[in-house]
Amino acid sequence: MPDNEKMSSRELGLVLAQQILAVDDLHYGLWDPDLELSLANMAHAQQRYTDMLLQQIDALLADCPAPRILDVGCGTGHILQLMIERGYAVDAVNPSAELNRQVRARLAGMEHPDCTLFESDFESLPLSTCRHRYDLLLFSESFQYIPLPEIFAKSPQLLKPAGQLLICDFFKTAAHCDGAAGDRSFSGGHLLGPFYDYVSASPFSLRHDEDLTPRISPNIALLDEWLMQRLLPASRSIDRYLRGSYPWLTRFIKWLARHKLERLHYKYFSGHRSQAVFEKYKSYRLLVLRLEVPGTTRQR
Ligand SMILES: C[S@@+](CC[C@H](N)C(=O)[O-])C[C@H]1O[C@@H](n2cnc3c(N)ncnc32)[C@H](O)[C@@H]1O
Repeated sequence: MPDNEKMSSRELGLVLAQQILAVDDLHYGLWDPDLELSLANMAHAQQRYTDMLLQQIDALLADCPAPRILDVGCGTGHILQLMIERGYAVDAVNPSAELNRQVRARLAGMEHPDCTLFESDFESLPLSTCRHRYDLLLFSESFQYIPLPEIFAKSPQLLKPAGQLLICDFFKTAAHCDGAAGDRSFSGGHLLGPFYDYVSASPFSLRHDEDLTPRISPNIALLDEWLMQRLLPASRSIDRYLRGSYPWLTRFIKWLARHKLERLHYKYFSGHRSQAVFEKYKSYRLLVLRLEVPGTTRQR
């Protein structure tokens, strides 16, 4: 990515998380009780999640001849690579220039991968540029970024008859916006109620709906501890140094950025970013939706 190319704050968050934690994946990981909650186990928890996803994909596509997948929001391309290595034909669509650089490098290291990377967001992906229709669209923690009307309008056009959506992501619960302590400390996610309304009004049937929140949320406790015990003291030290060395400039910059700083402080350092608050306001779900086309059965 050229140094002067603009990066959104959302993209910055993802890239920083990957760089600071030195991980291949950008998802929360599966934290079952037998896995000790520690940063050292982050990659392990993420591998468990990835394995779970790959097993789901194998089961969903078991009856498809030459199955083809579109990985929507493929992150660094790690899951994309594993799917290709498993023998699937996979394309990907991803808007982040920085992450796409990593995806291209990953693909270049593989032998003749049959993969097209569409460097765009899902909403703007022109159907005419897709050479294929897909058996499965995978949304691994990318669903929350895409407006529901776009997903439900575009997905049926990208899928083969009886094609499926595999979604693994968090949603907002009905408690969202209740104004209680911690409300809106976690941004992102579609409201779960309207999501189900969209499904009911769509040509999709809901084949699987599993609540993974308790297996995901320990990640929040871990990151909260890291933010409060490591990042907060480090940022205070830098602040003290800047106030001592450049008092006027520091005060001016803080005044200019005061609204952003207040939001950051509320979200990350006010003590509300806890596992309990996450479990109240978010529901992390594994969902499978199947495109029902009247009079059509799955092609075998
Ligand atoms: C949290 S990361 C998940 C990455 C990967 N799927 C994983 O499970 O590790 C979210 C991904 O969605 C992508 N994304 C964000 N907005 C998107 C959009 N509108 N359409 C498609 N992908 C999007 C980001 O660039 C990023 O790659």
